[in-house]
Amino acid sequence: MNSTRRGYGRGRDDNDLVNGEVEETDVVVIGAGVSGLVTAVRLREAGQRVVVLEARDRVGGRLLTETVGGVRLEIGGQWVSPDQTAVLALIDELGLPTFARYRAGESVYIGRDGVRRTFAGEAFPVPATTAAEVDRLTAELDALAAAMDPLAPWDHPDADALDRISFAAWLEARTDDLEARDNVGLYIGPAMLTKPAHAFSALTAVLMAASAGAFSHLVDADFILDRRVVGGLQKVPLRLADRLPGAIRLNSPVTEVAWDEDGATTKADKVYKSRQVVVAVPPTLVDRIRFAPALPPVHRQMRQHQSFGMVIKLHVTYDRPFWREQGLSGTAFSPYRVVHEAYDNCNEDDPRGILVGFVSDTRADRLLTLTPEARQAEVLDALAGYYGAEAQHPIAYYESPWAADEWTGGAFGTSFDIGGLTRYNSLLREDVGPLAFISSDIAGLGFLHVDGAVRMGESTAARLLGRAR
Ligand code: FDA
Repeated sequence: MNSTRRGYGRGRDDNDLVNGEVEETDVVVIGAGVSGLVTAVRLREAGQRVVVLEARDRVGGRLLTETVGGVRLEIGGQWVSPDQTAVLALIDELGLPTFARYRAGESVYIGRDGVRRTFAGEAFPVPATTAAEVDRLTAELDALAAAMDPLAPWDHPDADALDRISFAAWLEARTDDLEARDNVGLYIGPAMLTKPAHAFSALTAVLMAASAGAFSHLVDADFILDRRVVGGLQKVPLRLADRLPGAIRLNSPVTEVAWDEDGATTKADKVYKSRQVVVAVPPTLVDRIRFAPALPPVHRQMRQHQSFGMVIKLHVTYDRPFWREQGLSGTAFSPYRVVHEAYDNCNEDDPRGILVGFVSDTRADRLLTLTPEARQAEVLDALAGYYGAEAQHPIAYYESPWAADEWTGGAFGTSFDIGGLTRYNSLLREDVGPLAFISSDIAGLGFLHVDGAVRMGESTAARLLGRAR
């Protein structure tokens, strides 16, 4: 996977960069998200000298646990599920306790007819014909996912056909039942890739399912949104950072990397010389770094075909979890409401009631054109539709601002446009000279999840150590 390409730029010229202090190290890691930190910790454990350069004033990237208005919130990623064995093992290794998401009681569903219904279990209370279609589509997607190696989705027997059509078109070809399509589309579109189902391929949809073990796992909220870390999931990167004393440089955005086959010179707060560089940033941010020589044209093109999804994560706090008094779990879904899913997100150490909800893709676009007051009013109306009028009276309200964040630019992660997976295939994880590119966005198992970031970090460290021997 280590490709050597020359002739695209001027070649490495340290004089371009060196105008101050130079630090030598074995490996420079760009980005102190989970993928970068895991790489750095494993390399350091093996005796390598490592420097981690982080643009922000904190570690964790898309993991951020912060107290806002007196309430501790999971502003970024928060849930882990039983199939995510890499992140679970890391949580264990770091000695972090977890707790289960609150799930006692009935869930709420609002269907195409606009009627609010409560239900127990996973199956939405839809007409029997729709339920049968959802089951049939679920079985078909499970079978497609079972035939896929998530590390190489382009090798799936139906890869070319599936990557040519949008997931929406694939669903339309399979059933005339609109509500079945809207529900199956929701699990992968708004709920996972945070893009409309016409904006990504059916192959990407199958990858999303295969990366979580099965499509049925995505349907089962009790599985995919199973547990949380006590005190917040950002404890994972914070504990990893504790294992890297002196190695992490915050407020150090990397602007330039000059490289050749022997190593690289990286410019951030100062200049670093290293044998290897691990670029642990989302694909959409790679192009903000100037590489000399430039990355091969196809690599740059490939990243232009990957884009962030868009979701507003809402945190709404009440004096108590009033929905529990109505026998509700807090879990609510509707493909037809602006908040398409919401959950009880109470903290383990706080008696107040916290709901978390999501507004995805085109609905998020529209909401962001409104004033903050109008947006909040619309969100609270939607929550009142699920939980009753009491939802209109929170004591605190907050929207996670990832799309506006310079060092992320969307949520939850990035995915290819139609045809991208088969067009670029194994280039996705190909090195360029001494440069490796990693993030959860290009993981196989755990794609778009912290689990994928951990897996990328572990495998990249092992690969670099193999090369160093
Ligand atoms: P990440 O983006 O975290 O890290 C990249 C780092 O690089 C950042 O710290 C950034 O500042 C830095 N950087 C970028 N450019 C740089 C430069 N030029 N120089 C230096 N540093 C640079 N997952 C999950 O498992 N369960 C969940 O419940 C959720 N929920 C969720 C909600 C929301 C709102 C979001 C945004 C995301 C999730 N996720 C999630 C996804 C999960 O958070 C995500 O997949 C991983 O945290 C990504 O980790 P990475 O290390 O790959 O990238």
